[in-house]
Amino acid sequence: MIETDCKLDVAAIRKHFPSIAKGRIVTNNAASTQPPRKLAELYRQLAPDYENVHRGQSSASKNMTHLFEEAYDTIAAFLGARSASNIALYRNATEAHNAVMYSLMTEFRDGDNIVTTMMEHNSNYVPWYGLAREILPNFGREIEVRVVDFDPRDGTLDMDDLAAQIDERTKLVAVTGASNFFGTKNPIKKIVEIGHASGYVQPDGQEGSYVLIDGAQLVPSTYVDVQDLDVDFLSFSFHKVLAPFGVGVLYGKYNVLERMKPFLYGGDMVTSEEVAVDSVEYNYLPWKFSAGTPNILGAIASAQALRILLDLALSPEEDLYFMTGKPIEREAVREAMTRITAHTRSLSERALERIKDIPGIEIYGPLDAKKRTSLVAFNVEDRSPFDLADALNEFGVESRAGCHCASLAHRALMLEGSCRLSFYLYNTLDEVDTAIDVLAKIVHEKIFAATESTDRGLATS
Ligand code: ALA
Repeated sequence: MIETDCKLDVAAIRKHFPSIAKGRIVTNNAASTQPPRKLAELYRQLAPDYENVHRGQSSASKNMTHLFEEAYDTIAAFLGARSASNIALYRNATEAHNAVMYSLMTEFRDGDNIVTTMMEHNSNYVPWYGLAREILPNFGREIEVRVVDFDPRDGTLDMDDLAAQIDERTKLVAVTGASNFFGTKNPIKKIVEIGHASGYVQPDGQEGSYVLIDGAQLVPSTYVDVQDLDVDFLSFSFHKVLAPFGVGVLYGKYNVLERMKPFLYGGDMVTSEEVAVDSVEYNYLPWKFSAGTPNILGAIASAQALRILLDLALSPEEDLYFMTGKPIEREAVREAMTRITAHTRSLSERALERIKDIPGIEIYGPLDAKKRTSLVAFNVEDRSPFDLADALNEFGVESRAGCHCASLAHRALMLEGSCRLSFYLYNTLDEVDTAIDVLAKIVHEKIFAATESTDRGLATS
C-alpha cells in the first residue's frame, strides 16, 4: 500500500543521476531534464539484442517487438489512456502537433477557425499559422487562427477571451497545459468544457471542437489523466521526462484517431496484404500512425523512463516498475506525481520567495507557486537576460535566457527575452538558494559575464 502525504527522498533520487554526481547545478529542466544512470545503461544493454520490430522472425526481432509494444502499454497506462491504441510516437511534441495538423488538414472547411493562445510555445502556434497562411489558401480554403490573450499582470489565461473566441466554426482549440515562460497551469477541464460545447460539427457528426493540450511542461511533474480531463489530444516529449532519446508522444481519443488521416504514409501503417495499385487499407491503431521503422530503442528506453520516474518517487532504492513488466496502477501514478508536484512546488515557492528581494527584478507569471509549474522566468532592470544567464553559468548555475520559444508572449510584453531557472525532482532547496544567492551577487556587485554565449541567436528560439 502506498503511503499518502509522503515526501520524495531527494538524497536517494540524486544518486541515480551522473550529472548531479559530477557537481552540476542543473536548473534548466524546462528545456531538458537529466537522464538517470540506469536508463543510459539500459540503452547500452539493449544494443546487442537490437532488431527491427514487426519485421523479422528471429527471436531478437520477436523480443524487440514485445518490448516495443510494451512501451506503448506503459505510456498509455501512465497517461490513463484506455489502451496502447490511443498512443502515437513521434520525435517530440512539435512533431506531434504537426501530425495533428497534417492529419486534420483535409477536413478544414472554408471559414473554420483554430483557437490558440498568446502563451503558446511556437510548436503550438506556428503549425496553425502555417496551415492557415501557407497551406490551405493553396487549396482555396481560408481559415482563421484566433489567439487568446493572457493577463499581462500575472500571465494567466484570459478565460473570458477564450470563451468569446470559440464558436461554432472552431474545429480545434490548441492550448498549452502549462506555460514554459509564465509557468501558469491552465484550467484544462474548463477549456475542454468550453471547446466541446462550441457547436462545431466534425466530419463524423460529432459535435464540439477538438481540444489539443500541449503537455510538454505539464506531464513531467503533474498527475495527468487523459480520460478524466476528456482531452481529444495531448502531447508531451520525453526529453523533459528523463529520456533524451528523441521520442515524443501524441495521445488521441480512439474514435478521433480511427477516422483521422494518417500523418505519415508508408510501411507498417498499412495492412501489407491489402496494398494494391488502387486501394490501400490502413493498419489498426496504434500502428496506423507508425509508418517506417521507428525509433525502437528510443521508444523502449523512453517508456522505461516513466517506470523509473515512478520508482524514484515511490521507492528510489528499488525497482518497483523499471523493467519489471508490472502493470502500472492509476493509484501509483497519482501518488508518485503528487509527490513530484509537491516537491517541485516547494522549490519554486522558495525561488519566488527569495528572488523578489533582488533589486530591479521583474518576475513573470503567477506569484502563487500553486498556480504554476516549477520554473521562474525574470528580468533585472538594465541587465540583459543573456548576460545574466552567462554570468550565472560562470558561477556554476545552469539557466536559460531567450524567448524559450514562447515568442508571442515575449513580443506582447516587448521583451528581448527573459532568464529562466527551472527545477525538477532531483533539485534541492539548497540548490535553489545557491542559484538565488548567485543571482543576487551578480546583480548587487554588477558582475558581468567574462564570456558571452556563442549561440544567442539560437537561444531566442
Ligand atoms: N521549449 C523548451 C524550453 O522551454 C526547449 O526551453
